[in-house]
Amino acid sequence: MELVPLGPGFGVEIRGLSILDVASNAAAYQAVRAAFEAHSLLLFRDQTIADDIQVAFSRAFGPLELTKAASLGAGSFYSRLTNIDETGKILPPDHRQVLAAKANALWHTDSSFKKTPALASVLTARVLPGQDGDTEFASTRLAWERLPADLQARLKEAVATHSYANSRDQIHPDLANAEERKALPPVRWRLNWRNPVNGRRALYVASHAYAIDGMDDRDARQLLAHLLDEATRREFVYVHKWRQGDAVMWDNRAMLHRGRPWDYTRERSMIRTTISATEADGLNEVRPPTLH
Ligand code: OGA
Ligand code: MN
Repeated sequence: MELVPLGPGFGVEIRGLSILDVASNAAAYQAVRAAFEAHSLLLFRDQTIADDIQVAFSRAFGPLELTKAASLGAGSFYSRLTNIDETGKILPPDHRQVLAAKANALWHTDSSFKKTPALASVLTARVLPGQDGDTEFASTRLAWERLPADLQARLKEAVATHSYANSRDQIHPDLANAEERKALPPVRWRLNWRNPVNGRRALYVASHAYAIDGMDDRDARQLLAHLLDEATRREFVYVHKWRQGDAVMWDNRAMLHRGRPWDYTRERSMIRTTISATEADGLNEVRPPTLH
């Protein structure tokens, strides 16, 4: 296995091992798992991409999340991100699926609005639009380490509230529908997630977060916006330009990501599988004390 650095201080391209190797070989899995814990973002190029290979690879890392109600692929292991309908027709720009892509363009970490947040996401390119539609990543581990010591101390025990509706409402008031609002009530997490393997903390924020315990709502929103802003300054961002055959995996405990726009009259189709966090991934530590 060879690791080729990708982003500013995080991320590696893995060469010499395929996602199928990881799915079928324990030693390959161990090596890639170690790279995941250390580097937060992994890229495999020129892969044979198929749904069952993606699931087998993802499953090696932990239990898979079921895609939430009212999304494409609901109740299965697959989240389908696409701007075409079942007949292959391009959807209009105000269609829910296109608005969903616009919501993905807000800096976020996957599933921080769920009762069980995500350890990792695996995203594969199926149909690319020819240009644009990049995915950008920033390390919240490095962002945490850049914070001034007094702010770190304040945020060590701080607890934020996240909800799905909070990020969707920034795009369109109807994007989160009644079913989703009911199924996904607000959840609370500490503002940092300590990696139990290497002890490094990461800021745990997202466009889903909107309140901080014990803080005035307006002040909390300002602080959260400031933290997102600092974490994602241009020089700290890795821009992933997709190629056919790419499989990208990221650590949702330690990464922010966003999808960039493209010409929505062209098809872009991606498939995501998501691995749930477990106690072994530090889930017990990101939970606020009252939920223990
Ligand atoms: C995701 C996501 C962005 C993109 O799959 O979780 O945010 O560029 N994707 O498709
Ligand atoms: Mn996402």
